Amino acid sequence: MRLHVVDHPLVAHKLTTLRDRRTDSATFRRLADELVTLLAYEATRDVRTEEVDVETPVATTSGVKLARPRPLVVPILRAGLGMLDGMVRLLPTAEVGFLGMIRNEETLQASTYASRMPEDLSGRQVYVLDPMLATGGTLVAAIQELIKRGADDVTAVVLLAAPEGVEVVERELAGTPVTVVTAAVDERLNELGYIVPGLGDAGDRLYG
Ligand code: PRP
Repeated sequence: MRLHVVDHPLVAHKLTTLRDRRTDSATFRRLADELVTLLAYEATRDVRTEEVDVETPVATTSGVKLARPRPLVVPILRAGLGMLDGMVRLLPTAEVGFLGMIRNEETLQASTYASRMPEDLSGRQVYVLDPMLATGGTLVAAIQELIKRGADDVTAVVLLAAPEGVEVVERELAGTPVTVVTAAVDERLNELGYIVPGLGDAGDRLYG
């Protein structure tokens, strides 16, 4: 697993306002959207392209376009939905699949309640969107499902991660082609499974 913490003053600035408990839902949604676009720029650094010729008004030259098959973007419902627009703004031709997952707040176990994705992901690059990587249970289960369907390159875009979750993803997905792109890795998880200092419950702050 490759971990990429995006070090950029605009990323840090937007994340700081997202953390602030006084930030209201409308502002939180707008900032999350903007932050995802900045993370998406880094997350798509290795998106596959193919060479094409292009005719400018002056001459013919070579350039690139996104390779086929198209990348797949998978927001994890509910909170990941708040990241979808920001991601497809940079990848407007991507296909979009959906995974609905919920973490039991007592056992912290993740379970899947909805899934709408292509059965065969052979040769596909997949971008998974989820604001929080806490215990890692949700992301590990989501990525295992994608790999089972044949995805050969998975990048998870998360706003915030806990070191415990990063370690779990690293251990459980060892040997798989996974990259995690995040704005920050925080201090720790608390006894309730919340990231500290974190930003609270992303789903509630977006949609609650
Ligand atoms: C939150 C968050 C992640 C998950 C992270 O979702 O959005 O999906 O928990 O936790 P984990 O790393 O410990 O598995 P939640 O279950 O609260 O659902 P929601 O998105 O519908 O609010």
